[in-house]
Amino acid sequence: MRLLSITQCKPGMRLAKKIFSEDGIVLLGDRMELTNRLITRLAECGVQYVYVEDSRTEDIIPPSLIREETFRMAIKEIRTNFREMMDRPHKRKGAAYPYIAQPFKAMMNLIIDDLSNQEEAMIMLMNMGTVDHYLFQHSLNVCVYSTLLGLSNGYSREEVTTLGLGALLHDIGKTQINVNVLKKPDKLTNDEFELMKRHPQIGFELLKDEPNLPLIVAHCAFQHHERLDGSGYPRGIKGNEIHDYAKWIGLVDSYDAMTTNRVYRAPMLPHDAMERLYAGSGTLYEQRMLQLFRDKVAIYPIGMTVSLKTGERGVVVDLNNAYPHRPVVRILSNEAGEDLKVPYEIDLSKQLTVMIVGVNDQETDVPLVSGI
Ligand SMILES: [Fe+2]
Repeated sequence: MRLLSITQCKPGMRLAKKIFSEDGIVLLGDRMELTNRLITRLAECGVQYVYVEDSRTEDIIPPSLIREETFRMAIKEIRTNFREMMDRPHKRKGAAYPYIAQPFKAMMNLIIDDLSNQEEAMIMLMNMGTVDHYLFQHSLNVCVYSTLLGLSNGYSREEVTTLGLGALLHDIGKTQINVNVLKKPDKLTNDEFELMKRHPQIGFELLKDEPNLPLIVAHCAFQHHERLDGSGYPRGIKGNEIHDYAKWIGLVDSYDAMTTNRVYRAPMLPHDAMERLYAGSGTLYEQRMLQLFRDKVAIYPIGMTVSLKTGERGVVVDLNNAYPHRPVVRILSNEAGEDLKVPYEIDLSKQLTVMIVGVNDQETDVPLVSGI
């Protein structure tokens, strides 16, 4: 199968993976043939990438970071609890309802088990296959990526659980912000922007008295927009004043916000987002954290179409863990743009002079609007 951005999909192509609706049920089954209407509808729903069938890459099955059962359980739990907080904000006073620690800890156990079972797990784009509220999907992505980084960083299971919970709940304060501001397609006014910037503090207030939840989790919500050099918000704390967990979450949060389709801009490709993050190395983000993150992100995910400097084009079919930016590419068309009858593969970790110069035929340099 191949990974295509929704803008590249054409009628007649067939889906290679299911797409779930906001309620976790199968919206479109695999093998479903795409039509113009379906493509437009998916794009409107915020789906950025889909897997489509392709006879030349039908042996390629991209690995998932978490199992489908875990994903469905997690998104259901997030949806139920976050919606509860959105619908009945006043009931949250004093953290009386709902009790989120127990279900979310159970969810963390499943996520940690799934990730621990994959020795060479790499972060790939997860924003596909679900039509959902941005906050829900984003919270899950940040949780899974942070958990993976925590495991790679050598944290204990208990530490990773706390980090994962902090990541999952980092934006929980947004559930208390007016939905019209939260989902506003246009630029926010100054007042609205100031309101949005209150979400770390609101999150902290919501979580700090939650029974059975470590206090650090509340601090993760409070501190995830703080930056190393003190340029973040709400308090402008810096360096060691920021907890390491909040630093990991801040990094992953920025990455996921950049690579996600938001109402006000197109998503950035992984390598562009990584470049932006590196521009803040040592000032906004810890260098050592960026390095570990870079080694864990599949800049060119399996299934993605890439163009080589030679003019050849193909699909990423395997990753080299030691060189995540130099995958194995199955060449499908030659320098002249002619489709090959017999595709061949190039391992870019061995052919060091061959460079990837384009991805998905897209203009990759999209202007950055910083996520909130
Ligand atoms: Fe945030």
